[in-house]
Amino acid sequence: MTALPKAELHVHLEGTLEPEDMARFARRNGLALPWVTPDELRAAYSFTGLENFLAVYFAGCGVLRTRADFRELTAAYLRRAAGQGVRRAEMLFGPQAFLDHDVPIDDQLGGITDAIAEAREETGIEGALLVSAHRHRTEADALELLDLIRPWRSHVLGVGLGSAERGNPPAKFARYFAAARGQGYRTTCHAGEEGPAAYIREALEVCDVDRIDHGYTATDDPSLVSLLADRQVTLTMCPLSNLRLRVTDDLRTYPLKRLMDAGVPVTVNSDDPSYFGGYVNENYEAVTEALQLSDADVITLARNSFTGSFAPAEETAKALAELG
Ligand code: HPA
Ligand code: ZN
Repeated sequence: MTALPKAELHVHLEGTLEPEDMARFARRNGLALPWVTPDELRAAYSFTGLENFLAVYFAGCGVLRTRADFRELTAAYLRRAAGQGVRRAEMLFGPQAFLDHDVPIDDQLGGITDAIAEAREETGIEGALLVSAHRHRTEADALELLDLIRPWRSHVLGVGLGSAERGNPPAKFARYFAAARGQGYRTTCHAGEEGPAAYIREALEVCDVDRIDHGYTATDDPSLVSLLADRQVTLTMCPLSNLRLRVTDDLRTYPLKRLMDAGVPVTVNSDDPSYFGGYVNENYEAVTEALQLSDADVITLARNSFTGSFAPAEETAKALAELG
């Protein structure tokens, strides 16, 4: 899979924090972690669902405090991604967890954007930043986040919405997405991971987002599948995440190929690779094996990753030419 040029469109920078780095940052910042032994940490990585995972994920976020931490985290992910044939990575990042610990926004976004520039020099990978709001908080909080990142407008390509889905429908954030669009951001929304197909429709029809993160439950509503195909809305699916969070219990019934066959532009991504047992190539390999995908299917997935990205047209054309 490494030889296959691809874009990664759905990865949370916080979810690339490897256990060794979590321990190292904790030590460096003089912080204690709830897990002492490797066995305790491993036990914590056996998730029962999204909200159970998010508790561990936010505890992990707690160790990231300095500009250097964000820079090293981003650098490590981009180096690893480049090593897997990723040409472009659009990385979600949620500042609110770090603002809670009084980490200044300039340290957060400064560290990340420094690493993006350095990685471009080092390996040629194009990194882009998508700032994500937490849907378990209020829309007023999300609008406040938009104001806070305004000085970083030229460094932030788009905005998204993540965290606990059930009970927090996209429509709760309609004004957030409208404001973001008004400021020229591209938009993406987690929908249909644990939430119903109706949340995917709402993200499109009420929030008018450009892209859907996950979209796993789309096949519950055939008319929604037709809408996604007609409008060519990209779904950023994450098979190993869905398996680990018990969204699906068997990848052999994973709806990715059915959606492809229905004409929906689906892509394969890692979500939170350090927590879910695989980076982007391991996700491609898992679905290829489980769904017996052909070489042509895999190339279609890689093509979709570039056409579904928010890259400038010339960059996409160059990547597609590389795929043949
Ligand atoms: N779903 C929702 N929010 C998230 C996820 C996810 O899989 N990962 C990090 N934040
Ligand atoms: Zn996600």
